[in-house]
Amino acid sequence: MKLCVIGTGYVGLVGAAIFADWGNDVIGVDIDAKKIEKIKSGEMPIYEPGLAEIVLKNIEDKRLIFTTSLAEGMKDAEIVFICVGTPQSDSGSADLSAVWAVAKEIGENLKDYKVIVTKSTVPVGTNEKVRQIVKENLKTKVEFDVASNPEFLREGCSVEDMKNTDRTVIGSDSKKALDIMKKLYEHLGSPIVEADLRSAEMIKYASNAFLATKISFINEIGQLCEKAAADVSVVAYGMGLDKRIGRHFLNAGIGYGGSCFPKDVAALYRTSTDQAYDFKLLRSVMEVNVLQRTHFVKKVTRKYGRNLSGKTFACLGLAFKGDTDDIRESVSLEVIRTLRGMGATIRAYDPEAMENAKKELGDANIEYAKDMYDAAKGADAIFILTEWKEFAGIDLKKVKSLMNEAVIYDGRNLLSKEDVESAGFNYFAIGKRTNGLEELKDESYMSASALLRNGNGK
Ligand SMILES: NC(=O)c1ccc[n+]([C@@H]2O[C@H](COP(=O)([O-])OP(=O)(O)OC[C@H]3O[C@@H](n4cnc5c(N)ncnc54)[C@H](O)[C@@H]3O)[C@@H](O)[C@H]2O)c1
Repeated sequence: MKLCVIGTGYVGLVGAAIFADWGNDVIGVDIDAKKIEKIKSGEMPIYEPGLAEIVLKNIEDKRLIFTTSLAEGMKDAEIVFICVGTPQSDSGSADLSAVWAVAKEIGENLKDYKVIVTKSTVPVGTNEKVRQIVKENLKTKVEFDVASNPEFLREGCSVEDMKNTDRTVIGSDSKKALDIMKKLYEHLGSPIVEADLRSAEMIKYASNAFLATKISFINEIGQLCEKAAADVSVVAYGMGLDKRIGRHFLNAGIGYGGSCFPKDVAALYRTSTDQAYDFKLLRSVMEVNVLQRTHFVKKVTRKYGRNLSGKTFACLGLAFKGDTDDIRESVSLEVIRTLRGMGATIRAYDPEAMENAKKELGDANIEYAKDMYDAAKGADAIFILTEWKEFAGIDLKKVKSLMNEAVIYDGRNLLSKEDVESAGFNYFAIGKRTNGLEELKDESYMSASALLRNGNGK
């Protein structure tokens, strides 16, 4: 099939490459000329495991080309995918300006029947408006259909996710469009959910909001575990083995970030208020997520006070999660800003996100280390802020010998409490009693027996 993919970011570039790898002829379009030049010269503008190989192979096989001209990109395509960004606007809703701009340009250049597909995450009703904008901008009378085909890939494993998707959602009110779309995906063998436009749009938001809810839920269980002297990692493991619950997204930590969850949860909440419905659960999910990083920083201020000048902290992880260079809405950067704001000197390291983070954090009171051991040199504490696998394998003996004081704040519960404590560290984690917490002897930190008494109403 001949396809055009507009927007060559995390979704569009991966999508274009995989579609081409399935044997389709694909043209990727982006307004960012530098990005297009970079891809054409074989350099990937983003870090995604396995992506470069697939892009290069398909460019070489002449199934994948890139351009900045939307007119050229869509000319012969049967399907035109819109994969541009839909960031959060000031009001919390999705900023759809890039989608509207692309819809207008598609309308101006449409000369024969095509299916215009929105892959970007867009609120309910967006595809209907895309249809209207395309129609208003047509230069000649021509038939077209719109379809919603939300993307569920995860950054860090997006190549694998697209190839082995759990399901493909296709929303359209046109049988012709549904049949064309099914032709593209049915070889995958995974379920295809045929839906109306609005339900397809809602499936994406409901899915992300549900996953965010799982994260906030386990983070609250973690809060309770700390007070009740239980261990959230053990609790999550025990819960997750139940197939009705599932083990994914039950890792307690400093909260969710990234380019999707925060904006998608906020946008769904905004959709609910627009419909005069107060989605109370979602409001709490957002609130818990922000409080989670506050609780983490409190563990620091309870130990050192609010003036952190003179302290040097090694911060491991800048990306919003492991296996990506994406720092959008990274909780790690938020924590670093807070610690730095209280006077701490930061020594930061991330395997892939250093360049992106430098642009955000600058160089005031922050040094960028060449690896995790370099970051730990002379540090008063290590902070694990992103769940990179290499941090889990840290050599505790080696790192202790490099540090000023043996203290670890593990914001992702990446290390084993037993290993860290027996290596002589003062350890702070999420949702479990550790030697660090026990040492603080904070009054607000209720004992298990006191909690039980309160729970019994005595
Ligand atoms: N990143 C993810 O993990 C993920 C997963 C599922 C869905 N999504 C959704 O997919 C969409 C894209 O996300 P992303 O992370 O790939 O964004 P991104 O910011 O990485 O990429 C968007 C691209 O669109 C380009 N663009 C903007 N306006 C354009 C225009 N008028 N013409 C051509 N190109 C234009 C930008 O230059 C950029 O390269 C969003 O709606 C997002 O919510 C993202």
